[in-house]
Amino acid sequence: MKRQLGFDFVRVTETAALAAAPWMGKGCKKCVDGAAVDTMRRVFDTIKINGTVVIGEGEKDEAPHLYIGEEIGDGSVEPQVDIAVDPVEGTTLVSKGLPNALAVVVVAERHSLLKAPDTYMEKIAVGPRAKGKINLDASVEDNLRSTAAALNKSVKDLTIVVLDRPRHKKLINDIRSIGARIKLISDGDVAGGIATGLSDSGVDMMMGTGGATEGVLTAAALRCMGGEIQARLKPRHEQDREKARELGISNVDKLYFTEDLAQGDDIVFAATAITDGDLLKGIRYSCNQATSHTMLLRSETGTIRFIKTHHTITNKPEYFPKDIFNPDLSEIINN
Ligand code: FBP
Repeated sequence: MKRQLGFDFVRVTETAALAAAPWMGKGCKKCVDGAAVDTMRRVFDTIKINGTVVIGEGEKDEAPHLYIGEEIGDGSVEPQVDIAVDPVEGTTLVSKGLPNALAVVVVAERHSLLKAPDTYMEKIAVGPRAKGKINLDASVEDNLRSTAAALNKSVKDLTIVVLDRPRHKKLINDIRSIGARIKLISDGDVAGGIATGLSDSGVDMMMGTGGATEGVLTAAALRCMGGEIQARLKPRHEQDREKARELGISNVDKLYFTEDLAQGDDIVFAATAITDGDLLKGIRYSCNQATSHTMLLRSETGTIRFIKTHHTITNKPEYFPKDIFNPDLSEIINN
């Protein structure tokens, strides 16, 4: 992949975030998602790639845009790439005006990203210094002790990100009983996973069960940052198992390592903050101006870029939503 393409993917996530942000706090998840998905899809059409969506908005019959298997790009023959998108990672976060919602895109060589079904996945993730020290099948205590040793910290100084869900009651109790600190998040475990890769984020580890597709996005980011994730699908019912098999996963109980989820040497990860977060500031609007903050990662070089962009909305190309400051609120206000 040409290096410059990375900046095209920044435009993709920036534009999706700019489109979603006016819906912040308006209580309409569908509106947040719809704005980001439509806009993201239109920007992709301007990019010189031959892309196939491997992680997207769902099956063709349930998603009009960015559905799994959809071909995207400007019609170029090369480079042939896999595309994984989450136009809004944390739809509830945006609809409630809560922190850490991201617009995310991963681009990698063709056939290199796991086609994960829309189910759950159990995960453990750490940054580069604790790589090789975790084991999804080991006890919570063993994982905390070996990570603390790798980070040259005591266990009580570790901070573990966990989704605040009833299913994590035992996990949370186990972490607390060992003495480590917990950061409970209401949504958005991709941001939690990425935080483990940044030495100054204040997060040392992410544990627990969240979305499977989010696991692949997190793996792509950690490949670029030199961290590690281990994961295993947690199908909710037989239909999920069937779906996994349809996507080519013969062993649904397989333990995945970072490189199984996101293979190849050429991975690009871009995420723009929609709402303010620990990693990035969210979208700011002021009259005709907007500011966005994006993280751009590349596996080939391990470069981590933080990009602040000033946008003049009236100068935006055709694909940009024209009614961005006047979203149609009738559906929300009438319901
Ligand atoms: P959405 O943006 O699709 O709502 O996902 C948000 C999220 O919190 C993910 O970050 C996480 O992996 C997943 O949902 C957890 O699922 P659940 O809310 O069912 O526990």
